[in-house]
Amino acid sequence: MNKRPIIIDCDTGHDDAIALLLALGSPEVELKAVTTTAGNNVVDKTFHNTLKVLSHIGVTDIPVAKGAESFFFQPHKIADHVHGDSGLDGPELAEPSFGGVKLSAVELIEKTVRESAEKITLCPMGPLTNIATFVLSCPDLLPKIERISFMGGSAVGGNASPVAEFNTWQDPEAAQIVLKSGVPITMCSLDATFDAYITAEEKERFRQIGNKAGILTAELLDFFGKFHAKVGNKGAPMHDACAVAAVINPALFEMKRANVSMDLNGTFTRGCTTTDITGVTGRKQNCDVTFGVDREAFVELLYSAVKNLQ
Ligand code: RIB
Ligand code: CA
Repeated sequence: MNKRPIIIDCDTGHDDAIALLLALGSPEVELKAVTTTAGNNVVDKTFHNTLKVLSHIGVTDIPVAKGAESFFFQPHKIADHVHGDSGLDGPELAEPSFGGVKLSAVELIEKTVRESAEKITLCPMGPLTNIATFVLSCPDLLPKIERISFMGGSAVGGNASPVAEFNTWQDPEAAQIVLKSGVPITMCSLDATFDAYITAEEKERFRQIGNKAGILTAELLDFFGKFHAKVGNKGAPMHDACAVAAVINPALFEMKRANVSMDLNGTFTRGCTTTDITGVTGRKQNCDVTFGVDREAFVELLYSAVKNLQ
């Protein structure tokens, strides 16, 4: 089986961490590089959290770069109410056993894509600042991007506002640049990712795997699940892992072609991913948007991946 080479751009956070485990434990993809951005917390913390997670499961040979400290225009609003002060509260993780590369996130994406014999799939799962900067600075490399499968957006509803999802809300100008890039895009939106949840009972299955990755998954969910239980969700939604799962097996998701355009100027709607599936706007379709997920199959995919790890 040919492994799909991917790069994850993340703001580690609990669900970002679990998305990393899915990528590392899945034979269908090869994680070539990890870049980090501000989002759930400041980039120093999301970068550090990423190194700690990878070190914890013995993965120290993948280049990790620190990226965007701020956004094109939108002021930073950290999500410490969800992910805690560290951005990854809950598990007790040792200090990283390796450091990041000296390159910026955009430089690492550029280097990885330029040196790859195959097209690369980008899996962003935080604000799209790094990806937008790459799109603007390396137009010659866009033909070498197989697809951008990102976690973000929402056709209906939102979590950062009544109508906007956090990643696109936090940097809507960046999201617009990516959506207009012409690269094939899968938008793994809240419409599906909220249904990609893990229940308390399923969490214990991960803990019982007994390896470091399984115990880490359960401990991440112990903390992450608290917020989601408090707000009445059925389980802990694995928003970010959907961006990777949609690359591994798109058939897990109900998808619709749509035009997705960012609202940049609305008083109450800035950051909204305006999603046109009927063609009423006349705008060209630019995305495959997720509207549903086979939750049980998704959980089994993640479970199998975590079992493959240390
Ligand atoms: O809206 C959910 C997204 O915001 C996820 O990527 C989560 O990690 C946070 O970044
Ligand atoms: Ca994230």
